[in-house]
Amino acid sequence: MHQPSQTTFAVVGKPWAGRFSAPTDAFVEAFTASVDFDRRLYRYDIQGSIAHATMLARQGILSQAEGEQICAGLMAVRARIEAGDFVWSIPLEDVHMNVETALTEAIGEAGKRLHTGRSRNDQVATDVRLWLREEIDTIRDAITRFQDALLDLAEREADTVMPGFTHLQVAQPITFGHHMMAWFEMLERDRARLADCRGRVNVMPLGAAALAGTTYPIDRAFTADLLGFARPAENSLDAVSDRDFAIEFTAAAAILMMHLSRFSEELILWSSAQFGFVELSDSFCTGSSIMPQKKNPDVPELVRGKSGRIFGHLMGLLTLMKGQPLAYNKDNQEDKEPLFDTVDNVKGCLKVYADMMVHVTCRRERMRAAAAQGFSTATDLADYLVRKGIAFRDAHEIVGQAVALGVREGRDLAQLSIEELRGFSERIEPDVYTVLTLDGSVAARDHLGGTAPAQVRAAIARARARSAA
Ligand code: ARG
Repeated sequence: MHQPSQTTFAVVGKPWAGRFSAPTDAFVEAFTASVDFDRRLYRYDIQGSIAHATMLARQGILSQAEGEQICAGLMAVRARIEAGDFVWSIPLEDVHMNVETALTEAIGEAGKRLHTGRSRNDQVATDVRLWLREEIDTIRDAITRFQDALLDLAEREADTVMPGFTHLQVAQPITFGHHMMAWFEMLERDRARLADCRGRVNVMPLGAAALAGTTYPIDRAFTADLLGFARPAENSLDAVSDRDFAIEFTAAAAILMMHLSRFSEELILWSSAQFGFVELSDSFCTGSSIMPQKKNPDVPELVRGKSGRIFGHLMGLLTLMKGQPLAYNKDNQEDKEPLFDTVDNVKGCLKVYADMMVHVTCRRERMRAAAAQGFSTATDLADYLVRKGIAFRDAHEIVGQAVALGVREGRDLAQLSIEELRGFSERIEPDVYTVLTLDGSVAARDHLGGTAPAQVRAAIARARARSAA
């Protein structure tokens, strides 16, 4: 909301002044205005208006000369805005009336004809869709850039052994490359969700006018073509009141942010002294003003924190829409700030992550040492016994007993002697030690989706081939 001034502006001068006899209350004027934030849409507003005017002229609703004057005038307005030579007016409420008024000031009579067969209701919905369509493309590219950084890291660390966790307890050895490829897959779904959502963003409301359509012989398919929309919206009431596309986008963004928040949590843990698995570059960390030794993972912490506001925007938009009768209501003006904030923060988080992941250093020895603890190859021993003819449930019991001995004595399975191991099962032979090694354990999970270095490399190759296709 704009900070209200003391001035009461005359109603005269407002594009809708005709039926009013008293001026707008100064506070109400500022309270209802959206130009402070929706001016951000000016380019899309002008793009939509040029297409609309072109269609009106083509249909003979405006003369050719008027159509051309309007388009040239709109381009001049755009140039002025871009040159910083444009005074935005609060009394003119929003970006739409600011642009239209400036047009009329610049070209006179013809400017007043631009709004023929149109309403701000179909106009604003069109502007937001044009803007969001472009932002979705930018965000999808930013995801790809982040994924490329992950592919490089996964390739570099395809053989690096680390502990895999369940319940944050050491479970089985995995490769760091495999872990990075899990993040890659999560992002791949985010990209796909956004592409799917884009299809429903890319539908044109123009022509719905206020809510019921218009009495002029408009050609909506032509306007849609000019604006690169897949098609005009089917129903005029739905066209002006639908904000599903905004909710859907924010839902996809919320899931993406939830993923980034999980990545952040892992990086924060991994870069702690207790884990010591990775080191983040100094350029992505900050120090403490009191504790000289500190190097804090602020970037992942902030990204984890930002997920909260995006979840909030999703809830905000759902709540914004839930009680609205058809068709347009002024409530809808409240859709913009959460959308803008979502886009800005998602882009920021993706950029910082893509940049940061290029500079992550893996502390391979620390990860290997951690994987060697916690009996991470116990399942491998059970599988070994199964290969020697023992039923898996019995094998599980046998290995459980061996682990209990190791826990009592503070030794890992590979540190038990062959005699000790054979005490649990006669089927155990000296070849058992190969399955108890970390490298043997990861290499053995050699099937599609498994953690074996060869499979990680194959997954990277498939991902690269997919993105090149
Ligand atoms: N600023 C308004 C919005 O963001 C534009 C549409 C206004 N329409 C109206 N009938 N008052 O939704």
